[in-house]
Amino acid sequence: MPVKPESAFAREYEFSEQTFQRLRRLVHVELGISLADSKRELVYRRLSRRLRALQLEDFESYLRLIEQRHPEELQNFCNAITTNLTAFFREHYHFDFLAQQLLPALERNNADTRRIRIWSAGCSSGEEPYSIAMVALETLGHLRDWNLRILATDIDSDVLEHARRGIYGGERLEKLDAARLLRWFRRVGRSRQYRVGQELRQLISFKSLNLIDPWPMKGPFDVIFCRNVVIYFDRRTQSDIVERMARLQRPGDHLILGHSESLLEVSARYRLIRQAIHRRLGP
Ligand SMILES: C[S@@+](CC[C@H](N)C(=O)[O-])C[C@H]1O[C@@H](n2cnc3c(N)ncnc32)[C@H](O)[C@@H]1O
Repeated sequence: MPVKPESAFAREYEFSEQTFQRLRRLVHVELGISLADSKRELVYRRLSRRLRALQLEDFESYLRLIEQRHPEELQNFCNAITTNLTAFFREHYHFDFLAQQLLPALERNNADTRRIRIWSAGCSSGEEPYSIAMVALETLGHLRDWNLRILATDIDSDVLEHARRGIYGGERLEKLDAARLLRWFRRVGRSRQYRVGQELRQLISFKSLNLIDPWPMKGPFDVIFCRNVVIYFDRRTQSDIVERMARLQRPGDHLILGHSESLLEVSARYRLIRQAIHRRLGP
């Protein structure tokens, strides 16, 4: 059967080039995300669900809501646009390095303050900060009177709600080995779902934060995980965010990016030490 060209498919809503450009500008202003041309269909698909939910007739009415910064719909707009793919122990070598190098070094270096701060920036539905918390307790669980806290932030209110609830099931648990599931999770009734145990949950503060807005935190953070987040931003926005992260860290602290992200032509404040792990340079 001959394949229909894209233009031959009838759309539920008219979606012109001008509409896409207006949406693209709004996404950049509100989220810092630079959408490629190839995202046109994805944007249409994700936002037409919002039009349906609001029973709007066309994208023009939706654009007006967002351009007027309607508070509730602005949050839904951000939630619809973000990509939240994540997994427990995603890019496992970062957690191996955390367990074998970073945390033991922090135990030695922070012995005077007994304080450790880790930030998971762009934490999505919580798998990243919970993986950090598991490794932290497995490695430093003997340090009973230490003040160890993990800040986990995201702009998307839906994934943050999921993260706070801490209930996972099905394929989300596949990357987790059975011993960890047994040790750190509790089964929800007789279901196939598991809830993260209290010991892990109490280490983490989940907060809403748009990385392109001013940040309330003062730091310093010993380790920042910002993985698979800045890849969606243009270089200027990346530079600005990394510079502000550098100001919340001291020389010797670590910034961990995703496997396809790099600081080349973005920041000279860090030195790459291995697989997207960067060490803050002085002063
Ligand atoms: C692909 S997920 C990465 C999750 C996790 N860090 C990992 O690597 O598995 C990217 C996350 O960044 C968040 N994000 C995108 N733009 C953001 C912004 N401007 N401020 C804060 N978070 C943002 C998204 O909501 C999404 O949850």
